[in-house]
Amino acid sequence: MSVEPTPIDPELARYIQDHAGGRDEVLRRVEAETAAMGDFARMQTAPEQAAFLEMLTRLAGARFAVEVGTFTGYGAIRIARGLTEGGTLLCCELDPEHAATARANLDAAGVGEQVEIAVGPAIETLRALPQDPQIDFAYLDADKTGYPDYYEELVTRLSPGGLLAIDNVFMAGEILSPEREGTIAMARLNDLILEDGRVESVMLGMADGLTLVRRIPG
Ligand SMILES: C[S@@+](CC[C@H](N)C(=O)[O-])C[C@H]1O[C@@H](n2cnc3c(N)ncnc32)[C@H](O)[C@@H]1O
Repeated sequence: MSVEPTPIDPELARYIQDHAGGRDEVLRRVEAETAAMGDFARMQTAPEQAAFLEMLTRLAGARFAVEVGTFTGYGAIRIARGLTEGGTLLCCELDPEHAATARANLDAAGVGEQVEIAVGPAIETLRALPQDPQIDFAYLDADKTGYPDYYEELVTRLSPGGLLAIDNVFMAGEILSPEREGTIAMARLNDLILEDGRVESVMLGMADGLTLVRRIPG
């Protein structure tokens, strides 16, 4: 027997967003300023997903976290807030203007000192990290064609029991009939994760689809 999920229509989606916890004044200002960026605004992590990221970071007891794709820093603020005492977040962002906006927003949120922003192609930043398992929490949210490569660099560095959250796994529904390059890469990754004996995973119907991957200890 298959269980039919509750369809999320726009009204219910708004209700979910309105019930995302922990949206203080700074986060609401970042939401408003990001919304004013027009088309770009779609890139921002959804409020309920960002709240979830903060909770996951806290549940993972993360001392070191990595975000791939930072934009205006909305998700980064929440990840940084979930870090354990003395923990740090490394953000990878290609665009210097986005990185500057994120820096200002992270500082305003009071987490600036815990966050380093590496400006440049994320793959170079990730490959320059030490090989040993050290990442307790990672959030993958950048160019989709790069996802399989980012996945490999992140999973090899996940600490035992460490978590990786992967955004946009539905590709706005295109994942069911992949044609564009980014969707093909995502479909390849979604299948690859199921076969990857290093991890356990769950795909969640949140926002544009979020897969949680946990590195199996041992
Ligand atoms: C969907 S947005 C990230 C949203 C952000 N995580 C948030 O919480 O709002 C994707 C970001 O990835 C960045 N990006 C794209 N290609 C990249 C690359 N090769 N390396 C690093 N960042 C990249 C874009 O500039 C953009 O800011």
